[in-house]
Amino acid sequence: MARRIAFLNYKGGVGKTSLIVNLAACLAQQGAKVLLCDLDTQSNASIWLLRLERWNKIVSATGGTVFSLFQENPPQLSDLIIRDVVLDREGQKILPGLDLLPTSFNLVELEGDYTGQPGRPAYLMFREELAKVEANYDFILFDCPPNVLRASQCGVFSATEIYVPSNPDALSLIGFTLLVEKLATFHDAAAGFRRNSLGPAAQVQGIIFNAVKTNTDVEVPKMRMQLRLNQFKSAKRVARNAKIFVAQVRDATIVRRAVTLGLPVSLVSSETAADAQGIIGDYRAVTNEMFRHVIY
Ligand SMILES: Nc1ncnc2c1ncn2[C@@H]1O[C@H](COP(=O)(O)OP(=O)(O)O)[C@@H](O)[C@H]1O
Ligand SMILES: [Mg+2]
Repeated sequence: MARRIAFLNYKGGVGKTSLIVNLAACLAQQGAKVLLCDLDTQSNASIWLLRLERWNKIVSATGGTVFSLFQENPPQLSDLIIRDVVLDREGQKILPGLDLLPTSFNLVELEGDYTGQPGRPAYLMFREELAKVEANYDFILFDCPPNVLRASQCGVFSATEIYVPSNPDALSLIGFTLLVEKLATFHDAAAGFRRNSLGPAAQVQGIIFNAVKTNTDVEVPKMRMQLRLNQFKSAKRVARNAKIFVAQVRDATIVRRAVTLGLPVSLVSSETAADAQGIIGDYRAVTNEMFRHVIY
């Protein structure tokens, strides 16, 4: 069965998208079949992996992105998936195994007047659609906006585990605390729709520090985060074995360059990437730690 993983924090700009894109690439490079679902209306992951021109084409074609699932006469989710999404400049597939469910800005409409079908909330509809393609994947990853509103709920309801990208600062700690509260509220509200076959509601399994600058002290923010995590564990509000990852990702300018090039960091060619090796190692270490993490 596919491991279904949501990346979530109540704070924006912590590196959710950068982490998920690069971890997805690491997993695919190790031979896993990966589906990355972009559930953030900002569409950063979609534009990153498709590059702007290709993304624009998909958006202008009707019914091409995740919001189409919630409109009249919806397509099948499998018809929206862009298989082996990463292409080089010549259009050759260079990362087999990484598929994308793209989004566009119209996903924000899900948060407004959308009423959906009575008794069938958006997240349930999404979960049922996703179930049809699940057997094709080892990992399904959800890139979420910094909230637990409807688009995010699709990922949270479908996920088996949640990781919280974080920066070593006080605001990230506040974001994490808010997230745990909002998750509990959502899980309570959605409990009636969680049939046994769907398994238990996803809990926070780990916190991953991202964009850690050299010469900054991460020990104090880490200790504060650990204290908060311990409180949540005692209150059974996060997973029993939730942890702060030992592996962390350094701050490196190559991440911003990779976005411009439309490539995961590990595929940015080496002559342009003098500072790439260290951070590629970081992404691999985080991927391996996530891979080994046992949920109970
Ligand atoms: N390890 C890193 N080193 C340097 N910049 C980073 C790193 N990770 C993310 N960034 C940059 O920080 C900004 C926010 O990252 P992003 O992944 O979009 O966060 P989020 O999805 O949480 O909003 C982006 O400009 C991104 O390029
Ligand atoms: Mg993002």
